[in-house]
Amino acid sequence: MGSTRKLWLLILLGGCVLMLQYHVSSSWSAPGPAGPALPSSNSEGLVQAAVSRLQLDTSMAHTIGEKYLRELALQLGRELLATGGCDLPFSSTVWPEPPLYIITPTYKRPEQLPDLTRLAQTLMHVPNLVWLVIEDANVTSPLVNKLLDRTGIKYHLLTAPMPEQYKKKKVKPRGVSQRNRGLEWLRANATNGVLYFADDDNSYDVSLFEEIRTTRKVSMFPVGLCTKFGVSSPVVQNGTFIGFYDGWTGGRKFPVDMAGFAVNLEFLSTRPNAAMPYRAGFEEDGFLRSLSPFEPKDVELKADNCTKILVWHTQTKKNAPSAAVDLFKYNNTNILKLKDQLV
Ligand code: UGA
Ligand code: MN
Repeated sequence: MGSTRKLWLLILLGGCVLMLQYHVSSSWSAPGPAGPALPSSNSEGLVQAAVSRLQLDTSMAHTIGEKYLRELALQLGRELLATGGCDLPFSSTVWPEPPLYIITPTYKRPEQLPDLTRLAQTLMHVPNLVWLVIEDANVTSPLVNKLLDRTGIKYHLLTAPMPEQYKKKKVKPRGVSQRNRGLEWLRANATNGVLYFADDDNSYDVSLFEEIRTTRKVSMFPVGLCTKFGVSSPVVQNGTFIGFYDGWTGGRKFPVDMAGFAVNLEFLSTRPNAAMPYRAGFEEDGFLRSLSPFEPKDVELKADNCTKILVWHTQTKKNAPSAAVDLFKYNNTNILKLKDQLV
């Protein structure tokens, strides 16, 4: 297809997406009563919000330029408004959601691509999200890059290798260098929104992401399949936080899992020294303590007062690296291409 035809197709598609978004906005733009309502006459705001949600096909966006495409979609939306071409559901509450920043540490292993595929295909359902995928490596992996490109998710692929001294340890502080790199990136590039540390191997219910979006300081919620108790969660009585339930306390002030909390970025910016320690088992506790002044009683409870499990600490079975391919026997076959995708 020639690029002019592609362009027109995209413009048309953009228009359809905008109209569709307005029509369905009452179902997926107004997730809860907690969000600030936009003034109902703010149709310009609606167009802006719709365009910011537009997930552009990356290969096309690269050819034509994402900024240019968004500008076109924006103009088209304004045009439709001006001509009365779309019937806005002004009665429903539509508001620009704060962005979610998901930090995912990852590393090369046979299970990496399947784990990232599962997580990516979950995140593809979440609007207004920026995914920071950070590899425990010196250079980014072309296979991971390709996988991310195909999702249409707004992402940044970064690297932050585990320092050599920790690699030698028997129990390693996994994902710490990457999460600290993610924090550094956020401090430099993000002003508002909510941060969530999502390891690449867990299983996430899409509704978790709408739950955490309204985090004002630090929110917490249950993580299933975690520790010998089978769940790690705040303990709630009569709607009030009274402690933590976790199979391993270890003298921690915040005995929670990495997947069990989210942090507001404006709050984080008031804690410029907050960071994660290289201390296996104490990463979450160390990070949450570094948010001081912040106490367990200040925790915002999510997932219906911590009665629902919206994230599971699944662990993918470890697989041996794939055996070498007989290059003579399989020369000129698909097997060589498949082997390129394996560890
Ligand atoms: C548990 C917690 O859920 C982790 O958040 C915590 O970092 C870890 O314990 C710990 O205390 O070290 P667990 O399932 O045991 O997690 O650990 P992994 O899933 O193997 O690793 C956590 C994250 O770090 C994953 O996203 C993984 O891809 C990454 N990782 C792991 C690396 O980047 N490099 C490694 O060498 C190992
Ligand atoms: Mn894990």
